Amino acid sequence: AAITVEPQKAKPISDMLVGVFFEDINYAADGGLYGELIQNRDFEYQLTDKKGRDKSWNSTHSWKLTGDNSTFTIDSVSPIHPNNSHYAVLNTQVPGAALINAGFDGIAVKAGEKYNFSVFTKQLNGHAGKLLVRLVSDKGGVLAQATINVANTQWKAQAAVLTASASATDVHLELTPQTSGRLALDMLSLFPQKTFKSRKNGMRADLAQAIADIHPRFVRFPGGCVSHGDGLANIYRWKNTIGTLEARKPQRNIWNYHQSAGLGYFEYFQFCEDIGAQPVPVVAAGVPCQNSSTGGNGQQGGIPMSEMNAYVQDILDLVEYANGDVSTTWGKKRAEAGHPKPFNLKYIGIGNEDLITDVFEERFAMIYKAMKRVHPEITVIGTVGPFFEGTDYDEGWDVATRMHVPMVDEHYYETSGWFINNQDFYDKYDRSKSKVYLGEYAAHLPGSKTNLETALAEALYLTSLERNGDVVSMSSYAPLLAREGHTQWNPDMIYFNNSEVKPTVAYYVQQLYGQNAGNQYLPSTVALSDTHTAVTKRVGISVVRDSQTQDLIVKLANLLPVAVHSNVDLKGISVANQKAVATILQGNPAGKDAKPVESTINVANKFTADLPAYSFTVIRIKTK
Ligand code: AHR
Repeated sequence: AAITVEPQKAKPISDMLVGVFFEDINYAADGGLYGELIQNRDFEYQLTDKKGRDKSWNSTHSWKLTGDNSTFTIDSVSPIHPNNSHYAVLNTQVPGAALINAGFDGIAVKAGEKYNFSVFTKQLNGHAGKLLVRLVSDKGGVLAQATINVANTQWKAQAAVLTASASATDVHLELTPQTSGRLALDMLSLFPQKTFKSRKNGMRADLAQAIADIHPRFVRFPGGCVSHGDGLANIYRWKNTIGTLEARKPQRNIWNYHQSAGLGYFEYFQFCEDIGAQPVPVVAAGVPCQNSSTGGNGQQGGIPMSEMNAYVQDILDLVEYANGDVSTTWGKKRAEAGHPKPFNLKYIGIGNEDLITDVFEERFAMIYKAMKRVHPEITVIGTVGPFFEGTDYDEGWDVATRMHVPMVDEHYYETSGWFINNQDFYDKYDRSKSKVYLGEYAAHLPGSKTNLETALAEALYLTSLERNGDVVSMSSYAPLLAREGHTQWNPDMIYFNNSEVKPTVAYYVQQLYGQNAGNQYLPSTVALSDTHTAVTKRVGISVVRDSQTQDLIVKLANLLPVAVHSNVDLKGISVANQKAVATILQGNPAGKDAKPVESTINVANKFTADLPAYSFTVIRIKTK
């Protein structure tokens, strides 16, 4: 192939192109990124969390009593906080029985590492007592233990540090009262001290690091469908997710499980800051998922108009929580949580894949106008609704165009063939209209699988996003995380279990783009000897420049079953270092294990590059 770069036609593109989409789907939050190791720590799992009503899904889920002469019941007579109404009561006649938490498919600990245990306790019959807390491995026996005093007759927070004597993945938490009597327990928590950046109530370090390694420019949260919820009562309300953990409001997760809200808005903002990414919260546009009603009576509706002013205020308050100074009501709450400095929020998504109806439009308009009036500094991202085979975004775009919404969120999950054949999707977009945030996309094989071919289709499509980086401002692959054995959606970018993180090939494509972003696009032409469209569509190039480092980054995707020998002509751009790093992801298109491999290649104003069959190559050239 003859590849000719046209530096004189360079244009600025978004420097926010690659970010991540975080949704609490597939146990991505509790049992995932959120570092908590105890499942159902607050005894708030409810039968109604799950469709199909699994009978074991109740306040005792993940807990069991072993031993005799004791009972374990759930009470709600005098909770620590009304938002966390259930707690456990252990009635010990003869000491010996233990209350056990199974964690999320067990608990994994590492030898020598410290774990912060905490609990609220209250003696119900008022005598002195002690509680033995142990980490016990099924195979390896007791790995850590501590004893805490539980003589208090009012709810009191207690804590102990447990140091694991060995590594194990089959651990459970065991609590054994040392005296007889009735003891109330709630908010039982176990956190590794080594959370990401050692944050209290922080993130699981290895998963957080994998996300950070993408170098995402932004993190969208908390969804997806989780943002707008399953009926009005299930709309994600950010105010329920801040403050002390015992006062947060847990709720049903639209993906058929439970959200503890331990990973809440403060933690999301903190995480974004910790990885140098812009926070992009997405709030409901006053309507739940597909405008679903509260009572399951089939009616479609939104938040009653009489309640919309309060709802709009909640969203304005969110901006104050993120950015207001400490003298403001919500800025003060952020400071109390440990972050007096603003989080520098710049974007808010309003709506997620909603049905574009009058009900939607009326509520979206209210929120949008209020945001524009009170917070013109915030870029609002609207939604253009769902995109399924045979549908289009017309109604959503009409609303956005009429209201001059600065950016809209588009979603599509399609086959590799669709991505290969639609590389011109944004070439045709009207530059005078809203910018685009491609908030969810992934190439799927039938059966929702992923492999090198789907990842390369995404890499190829991303060359077209860079080319259209003047209209496409942001993009995020979706979903991000999936816990093995608890996956509602496939494919996902990163799979994991308690001790392993398993990035997919799609992850490496995102990482190569995230780590090699630019803010200037240099058009280029590719001339292949075989000019059949079916062939030419399978080779893509994008050349960008990072104006900070002045590095020139050449990305080349080859989805052909043969290698493509390329002569690259940089047309006068002078190369400062004749050695450049080339990173190549290649392999069997049906394979799932390809990893990027780095090598050094020789570059000059004119150079050759061999693109292996089924490969994605990134060449980083120094020009300064
Ligand atoms: O990414 C999974 C789901 O796909 C999101 O929650 C939703 O927005 C979309 O339908």
